[in-house]
Amino acid sequence: MAMGKRLEGKVAIVTGAGTRGDGIGNGKACAILYAREGAKVIAADLDPALAEATAAMIREEGGECIPFRADVSRAEDCRAMVDECISRFGRIDVLHNNVGITNSGGPVDYAEEQWDRMMNVNAKSMFLTAKFALPHMERQRSGSIVNIGSINGERAIPFPKFAYAASKAAMIAMSREIAIQYAPLGIRSNVVLVGLIKSPIVEQNNTKLYGGDLDEMWKKRDAMSPTGRQGEVWDIANASLFFASDESRYVNGTVLPVDGGLINMVKL
Ligand SMILES: NC(=O)c1ccc[n+]([C@@H]2O[C@H](COP(=O)([O-])OP(=O)(O)OC[C@H]3O[C@@H](n4cnc5c(N)ncnc54)[C@H](O)[C@@H]3O)[C@@H](O)[C@H]2O)c1
Repeated sequence: MAMGKRLEGKVAIVTGAGTRGDGIGNGKACAILYAREGAKVIAADLDPALAEATAAMIREEGGECIPFRADVSRAEDCRAMVDECISRFGRIDVLHNNVGITNSGGPVDYAEEQWDRMMNVNAKSMFLTAKFALPHMERQRSGSIVNIGSINGERAIPFPKFAYAASKAAMIAMSREIAIQYAPLGIRSNVVLVGLIKSPIVEQNNTKLYGGDLDEMWKKRDAMSPTGRQGEVWDIANASLFFASDESRYVNGTVLPVDGGLINMVKL
């Protein structure tokens, strides 16, 4: 694999950098692409074996990556993750918040515990990773925070996803707050608004929403896109790479849909 230089000399933390099963999810693709472009990567994941698998793949390609077990909904784990990054690599240039869980249901269906878990894993995690990473970025007077949102954070989709949508909307607000507060310190924060992506987690979690037939689900999701096909995890990785690199040095507080245009459509 050809190695680039768009992140040469940079250090990146990617949360949720593993993928369950054989495929490559959004977080793993971003960790791989960042390493291909010269970044040293901390691949953080709740499951240490999955973090290790990502690190092994990166090393096989000649990149540099340290796996780290962390539950990013826990403050102590986020602190330890950032500490590990600083002790191994001495700095942190890119904080990539990929972790996100999903499930469907409206306010009546949701148990209070489900709501709390969703908000803790998807939204509070972004507060916690930022809380511990920002002081280092402030010291450096540079840094880029890349947040993986969802079109569901700005639009309702055909299945009620009450808590998920709320958690993804919260990410957008937090990113905006960080972007403005830290802009004078050379730190940026942006959101990649993920559309319909053909990824392993969708296969594992969403098939029942579409009637239980996997091929049928992929067909329906392709048909929902204005382009006639879903995106790939590499589309998310390429957009993230732009935000992570200095090419986007004057881009701050933005929300970039990577959805083939889907968010611009109304259903008639
Ligand atoms: N694929 C899509 O169509 C789609 C659409 C909209 C948004 N997204 C967003 O993409 C992101 C996830 O993409 P992915 O493909 O990497 O997902 P994924 O589900 O494969 O998750 C990657 C990793 O996150 C880890 N993880 C889960 N909870 C964690 C925690 N508390 N702490 C640390 N690690 C944890 C899992 O172990 C897994 O290995 C989410 O933010 C999701 O909302 C995806």
